[in-house]
Amino acid sequence: MKLWGGRFTKPTNELVEEFTASISFDQRLAAQDIKGSLAHVKMLGACGIIPQADADTIRAGLLKLQEKWAIGELAFSIKDEDVHMNLEKHLIEEIGPVGGKLHTGRSRNDQVALDMHLYLKEEAGVLAGLLTELIAVLVEKAEQNLDVIIPGYTHLQRAQPVLLAQHFLAYVGMFRRDVERLQDALKRIDTMPLGAGALAGTTFPIDREMVAAELGFGRIYENSMDAVSDRDFILEFLSAASIVMMHLSRFCEELVLWSSTEFGFVELDDAYCTGSSIMPQKKNPDVAELIRGKTGRVYGHLFSLLTVLKGLPLAYNKDLQEDKEGMFDTVDTLKTSLILFAGMIETMEVRRENTEKAVKQDFSVATDLADYLVRKGLPFRQAHEVIGKIVLFCIAEGKYLPELTFAEYQSFSTLFAEDLYQAIDVVNVVEARNSLGGTGTKSVEHQLHLQQEWLATQ
Ligand code: ARG
Repeated sequence: MKLWGGRFTKPTNELVEEFTASISFDQRLAAQDIKGSLAHVKMLGACGIIPQADADTIRAGLLKLQEKWAIGELAFSIKDEDVHMNLEKHLIEEIGPVGGKLHTGRSRNDQVALDMHLYLKEEAGVLAGLLTELIAVLVEKAEQNLDVIIPGYTHLQRAQPVLLAQHFLAYVGMFRRDVERLQDALKRIDTMPLGAGALAGTTFPIDREMVAAELGFGRIYENSMDAVSDRDFILEFLSAASIVMMHLSRFCEELVLWSSTEFGFVELDDAYCTGSSIMPQKKNPDVAELIRGKTGRVYGHLFSLLTVLKGLPLAYNKDLQEDKEGMFDTVDTLKTSLILFAGMIETMEVRRENTEKAVKQDFSVATDLADYLVRKGLPFRQAHEVIGKIVLFCIAEGKYLPELTFAEYQSFSTLFAEDLYQAIDVVNVVEARNSLGGTGTKSVEHQLHLQQEWLATQ
């Protein structure tokens, strides 16, 4: 017998039952559903909508369900469609027909919206915490390797040398904004829909403020139709999550490159790599690759929900049931990705012998040589031209800039003096950039300090 069976004379088609049921995935909301019901029934009793004794009985029944759920003793069936009706069925089995009073002044439409808000409120907080832990790992790794210089790239061509710490701190900046984005989404997630009823409110003298306070919500939906139709809060979460994944994915791409023989800047820990079934020498950066790959599915969930919503008339439509699986998968994917990524960074080794070699075997100090001529009075545009010619000469000779003789330099410009060699020493090149936000050690130490200060407040 269905909870809504009164109006029906025929049983549901079996495939329809399977097709419309959400219990296989929305059972993940059982804890939230019970928590919401506990607050709702407390209000029903307090407002005299149902007798206090009934409210107490229902509360006891719900607590029993909570216990059973915790030890895996609640069986769910697709016959009862979703988590809300499964739990109501169990409640009635547990305490008898009085359990049927729980749904007074409530609909599954505002109930499911409440569950989703409760769930995301928790999970968005957890994810912001994991991001913060990742930031802490990056800050520490940056600090431990403060003297490591790597080539900085534009167009994936060597551009100017930078501190490895500067590179890490760039990502710290991105992850900090990701934390902010999640916290900002949390403001809207923290809005309580219960009390909207099916769409129009209810005839019972409910107290929505009381329920909101009981559940710890900061705000209440002011319009009942908005309350049951809104899924913006999930979209905001999915877009914030997509941006997190995009950031992780960019970093993963770099780790894949950096751990290759061609770059050799880092060695990923064995615990975070896998081997090949045929090539004995292989050690593959699968974790980095998979995080990069899984970014696609998270984007997919965002687009899938945007598409589900775009043509929906108000208020509730069954299409909205499609909001769940993508959201759950996003939470799971993000959680695992953040934990593994932090572990991978924490355990990876920086291969200084290779980074040191790399920064000596390129022309990435050329800008500094141009700046040198500028300081001697040459307009930058002309200096750029002179150094360009010198680089061409080097390429033809198979040499790098520090290897040219002073006489050779003089043949390009008489403005060169012996101190030019200091100007293109890679350490000096990095240290010369202590402008605010620059890659010089002082500037990087300042950035590290700001991040550590922030971390201390978390
Ligand atoms: N399982 C449904 C969902 O996830 C719950 C709400 C159902 N409401 C309804 N009127 N059929 O959206």
